[in-house]
Amino acid sequence: METIKLANGVEMPVLGYGVFMVTPQECERCVSDALSVGYRLIDTAQAYYNEEGVGAAMAKSGIARDEIFLTTKVWISNAGEQKAAQSIDESLRKLQTDYIDLLLIHQAYGDVFGTWRAMEQAYRAGKVRAIGVSNFQKARFFDFAHYVDIKPMVNQLQCNALIQQRGIEPLLHDFGTRMMAWGPLGGQGVEGVVKSELLAGMGEHYGKSAAQVALRWLTQRGIVAIPKSTHRERMEQNLDIFDFELTADEMHQIESLNQHDQGTINFADVQFVKHLIETYG
Ligand SMILES: NC(=O)c1ccc[n+]([C@@H]2O[C@H](COP(=O)([O-])OP(=O)(O)OC[C@H]3O[C@@H](n4cnc5c(N)ncnc54)[C@H](OP(=O)(O)O)[C@@H]3O)[C@@H](O)[C@H]2O)c1
Repeated sequence: METIKLANGVEMPVLGYGVFMVTPQECERCVSDALSVGYRLIDTAQAYYNEEGVGAAMAKSGIARDEIFLTTKVWISNAGEQKAAQSIDESLRKLQTDYIDLLLIHQAYGDVFGTWRAMEQAYRAGKVRAIGVSNFQKARFFDFAHYVDIKPMVNQLQCNALIQQRGIEPLLHDFGTRMMAWGPLGGQGVEGVVKSELLAGMGEHYGKSAAQVALRWLTQRGIVAIPKSTHRERMEQNLDIFDFELTADEMHQIESLNQHDQGTINFADVQFVKHLIETYG
């Protein structure tokens, strides 16, 4: 598996398996399948309510803990120094591990600076190998990264061939932050990305599907992609992207698909923020 290097030198697989919307009942089977077909990066979150399933699958896999790169995220309801610290210990317990490879703040709301202090402490205590954020769009990311002591090593953003996140790249670069793409195939109810004629046409030449071209394009940009599927064949297909390389011209052509550079959710929309805080805060 190809890797990228985070600012603190930690190596992270460039392709992983995400478990958003994978039910607690299904999660153990899905993660077991994902590990058995070769994934070594698993992305979960406190808010997915399936950390136990991830932990059980890892424990039963027989794969050494240090061969798996495990990501989870602190949810808004656990924001603030004390609550976040407790929630990290709770995640460790559910995941049946004594360290998390990458811990992210899931959403940019609530006492994110308090949450970050708890994450920095967990990092210094060896409970976490790397820390970062998720869904921090440009201005929010700059404000946050400017003031914190340890800079976010990752920003996990909605990113795919239709949502290319070009605008935030220079900022991430300035803070030594790597991008991780959620929704790399377009997300739930996938349409545009895997049905793209341009991607499908390019794939024919290599014997690959549009989905594989979409994932290859992200990883070739140095962005970590974490596609989700509950189907073993698709898990295999999504992992099988390391035996071909898109040309510079093909990479450039895919840029023409960009429709919503910073994503389809406006994280500065008051109604959206109100909904999140009233539901989960
Ligand atoms: N930080 C955040 O706020 C955030 C938000 C969303 C997601 N995430 C993370 O990112 C991961 C991936 O994002 P996502 O789950 O939203 O979207 P995604 O991986 O882009 O797309 C998943 C959808 O694509 C389908 N699919 C998978 N492989 C396919 C293939 N080869 N061909 C056609 N369809 C395929 C899946 O269906 P089947 O399952 O039926 O195969 C599912 O409906 C999540 O699981 C989660 O870990 C993070």
